Amino acid sequence: MTDVRELLGRDLTAARERTLLLTDHDEPELLRQHTPLLSPLVWDLAHIGQQEDLWLLRRGDATRTGLLPADVERLYDAFAQPRAVRARLPLLPPVEARRFCGEVRGRVLDRLDRLGGDDDPFDFAMVVSHEQQHDETMLQALALRTGPPLLGAGAPLPPGRSGVAGTSVLVPGGPFVLGVDAADEPFSLDNERPAHVVDVPAFRIGRVPVTNAEYAAFVTDGGYRDDRWWSARGRAHRDEAGLTAPMYWGPDGTRTRFGLVEALPPDEPVQHVTFFEAEAYAAWLSAGSAGAAGARLPTEVEWEKAAVWDPALGRRRRFPWGDVEPTAALANLDGAALRPAPVGAYPAGASAYGVEQLMGDVWEWTSSGFTPWPGFRPMLYADYSAPFFGGDYRVLRGGSWAVGASILRPSFRNWDHPIRRQVFSGLRLAWDV
Ligand SMILES: [Fe+2]
Repeated sequence: MTDVRELLGRDLTAARERTLLLTDHDEPELLRQHTPLLSPLVWDLAHIGQQEDLWLLRRGDATRTGLLPADVERLYDAFAQPRAVRARLPLLPPVEARRFCGEVRGRVLDRLDRLGGDDDPFDFAMVVSHEQQHDETMLQALALRTGPPLLGAGAPLPPGRSGVAGTSVLVPGGPFVLGVDAADEPFSLDNERPAHVVDVPAFRIGRVPVTNAEYAAFVTDGGYRDDRWWSARGRAHRDEAGLTAPMYWGPDGTRTRFGLVEALPPDEPVQHVTFFEAEAYAAWLSAGSAGAAGARLPTEVEWEKAAVWDPALGRRRRFPWGDVEPTAALANLDGAALRPAPVGAYPAGASAYGVEQLMGDVWEWTSSGFTPWPGFRPMLYADYSAPFFGGDYRVLRGGSWAVGASILRPSFRNWDHPIRRQVFSGLRLAWDV
């Protein structure tokens, strides 16, 4: 029990340090809402504490009184308060929000010290995951912010390698184990479970994600104006939203990143594209180059097989590279870089099939809708996944540079509307064989 207590204490502390760093701004800054799609940061801050109070101090029982008065607590109910209205609510001022979060956390750490009996370590891990996911959405909001840079240029990253962009590897056909069980991954979320065998036909998959340089060729070729590459829905959205390039790209080979205007790095994975743009890029590439004929997005099942299956041993790896936890030499995670790493930066992070940069850098759109695995059972936070199954979503895999390493697994499933691109989303291609 000592080990899991230490691990959870470390992960809770790391998540909170990150939250406090991302909200270490003056009150007007924290009250700003940069888009109706995202909350003002001060809402995220108190919501993190409110959910922690509900799930850990009250074990998910909303009929029990929490540390906040009921009418204040309701302001932080994500289902009751649509994002678009959150800036107009009588929210707790930042100083009170921080004090509330600190008080909840103090009680939670006391509980963790006495872990045992009724307490389930999973509930603590779910709270870590929730806080880290909000830290990522706060970074999405800060990326949209206008004005002088607030966060700097980001931490250094390893250099890329030439010769890997645009290449692919073969994943032979055959069964593999999709998803995980609690016995192997006790902190996996409900939608990742249970583990089950799936037979996957052979396919090829990009060794690395699609780069800015590759995507720029689609833009300069007039790809956004050519209806042949776009689905009917993609076309409608492109026209309505006026899409002409990925979000944050300037007209002159520049991009804006957290307030900094800089030359678009050619070898960095493209990010901030919608599912529809990802699909259109694949269709354009497929038609324009004999070597790329049939290019498409992978299914999430293909993605997971390419990431975790070890064909020599006939079992899953915990991570693409093996069973050791992520390090800065294996993947770009935890948010400090403020950008994806150039392709080829993590040869040691390759999967058994030789696929690189599956974890971190950019969330990768897949062609799959969000559905439960057979045998799905909801967890304590029952509304985490189930209300979204079968909705108008596409699954994204792999995590971005902004994801906390402690919450990410290759089985982790993210989902979003196909028109969204404030997320740190990119793509990787696949082909039938
Ligand atoms: Fe939340």
